[in-house]
Amino acid sequence: MTRASLDKQPHEVASMFDDVADRYDLTNDVLSLGQARLWRREVAKAVDARPAQKILDLAAGTATSSLPFAQTGAYVVPCDFSLGMLQVGKRRHPWLPLTAGDATKLPFQDDTFDAVTISFGLRNVQATESALRELYRVTRPGGRVVICEFSQPTWAPFRTVYTEYLMRALPPVARAVSSNPEAYVYLAESIRAWPDQPALAALLQKAGWSKVAWRNLSGGIVALHRGVKQG
Ligand SMILES: C[S@@+](CC[C@H](N)C(=O)[O-])C[C@H]1O[C@@H](n2cnc3c(N)ncnc32)[C@H](O)[C@@H]1O
Repeated sequence: MTRASLDKQPHEVASMFDDVADRYDLTNDVLSLGQARLWRREVAKAVDARPAQKILDLAAGTATSSLPFAQTGAYVVPCDFSLGMLQVGKRRHPWLPLTAGDATKLPFQDDTFDAVTISFGLRNVQATESALRELYRVTRPGGRVVICEFSQPTWAPFRTVYTEYLMRALPPVARAVSSNPEAYVYLAESIRAWPDQPALAALLQKAGWSKVAWRNLSGGIVALHRGVKQG
């Protein structure tokens, strides 16, 4: 069983996702109590992909997060550094151009994409700021970024319940449904250690993004951050 620790060594993170790849999407649906589908719909609205636009879905895993963009007629490139996740994605969606790549050294030229997006991936990247700069580099001037990530519930009493839910319920539920429960102990830890909404917005600005803003989903369990590369 592979489990990354909070220093997020890239080889440990990749190998942890290799191990959970087969059951990743099922476990996601169970653990999010079906909310994952709602969050994906909101990401699709925020990205607002149009036919023939080029969209990068970074840390795409099995490419489930890429499907809503492909369905609009946009050209979506799912990119990830876990070969295990990419193989499961390629088996399920052979028509998608799944691409191996590291978020901190993307295999794309400058100013390539109309929009770049990353769902539940940025938290796992060891060098957050360098990934945000890479996303900026490969976006065309005038292009946009949308980041979907776990965040901080805004209502304090709910935040406490949520933290308790995470701390207490997640590991046993994961033990019942996941082939690698330790990965979900890492999930709980990494969510707790992740910057809150204003702090992530500040990191986006620091990486060069303009018009940075965010919207909370499910009371702040998830936040959608967005920004624009000024032309
Ligand atoms: C929780 S999964 C998210 C998958 C997909 N975006 C989704 O919404 O279902 C996180 C993914 O981030 C990928 N990842 C983590 N660090 C990465 C990095 N430095 N470069 C590329 N992918 C990375 C992992 O391999 C994993 O597939």
